[in-house]
Amino acid sequence: MLEVNNITKLYGQQKALDSVSFSVKPGEIVGLLGPNGAGKSTLMKIITCFIPPSEGEVKVCGHSIFDEPQQVCSCIGYLPEHNPLYTEMYIPEFLRFVADIHKVKNSNQRVDEMIELTGLTPELGKKIGALSKGYRQRVGLAQALIHDPQVLILDEPTTGLDPNQLEEIRKVIRNAGKSKIVLLSTHIMQEVEAMCSRAVIINHGHIVADNSVEQLKAQGHDSLEQIFHKLTKD
Ligand SMILES: Nc1ncnc2c1ncn2[C@@H]1O[C@H](COP(=O)(O)OP(=O)(O)OP(=O)(O)O)[C@@H](O)[C@H]1O
Ligand SMILES: [Mg+2]
Repeated sequence: MLEVNNITKLYGQQKALDSVSFSVKPGEIVGLLGPNGAGKSTLMKIITCFIPPSEGEVKVCGHSIFDEPQQVCSCIGYLPEHNPLYTEMYIPEFLRFVADIHKVKNSNQRVDEMIELTGLTPELGKKIGALSKGYRQRVGLAQALIHDPQVLILDEPTTGLDPNQLEEIRKVIRNAGKSKIVLLSTHIMQEVEAMCSRAVIINHGHIVADNSVEQLKAQGHDSLEQIFHKLTKD
């Protein structure tokens, strides 16, 4: 279970998140939607223990971000916004490094599986710094999945992928979502329809909708885009 309870985040005078609460069960893929600056990445950084909230609490698989941050980190796979990577490393070297941090057993085999799963095989001869944007994104996804975490937090996971790879990666995420908790942010509404069972929409740090994708679309027979516009216009 991922439990977000009354999270508020202040950056100086600015309230980036204001009493945000929701929870996600295993088997749910939740799309976190909202305009630029709504607070999506901020919330993900709080859930993954990168920054503390100003108020509130998050529990990941029963572990508190305050009391047990190491346990929280070990059950989360996180693809951060801007996907920071070690550019001087080769792909297998980097993935082995991440696997070792997570103390993954049979790490060589797991690295090979991730390379296969995310379609990295053609680029194995290159350093990460020499990869195109889409291939870097695949490395980011591979590192998030390598320790088979119970929870996946993916900040705009399909940014920069070509249409062929997009379908492959969506399949990977959908499969992961059968048993895991997945929270992903995106600006692409087709992506929400293709992958998510539920959408949480935030605007100016407030939740303005939290519903199944089907129920959202049933409201007035609008498209998801129209619903998004209605809920997030100022
Ligand atoms: N380190 C920081 N210091 C000050 N303000 C910040 C900081 N990080 C984020 N903010 C502000 O908090 C607000 C929420 O930012 P956040 O990155 O969470 O938005 P987002 O929903 O992820 O947007 P996008 O869709 O553009 O990625 C923005 O107004 C942003 O400028
Ligand atoms: Mg963001």
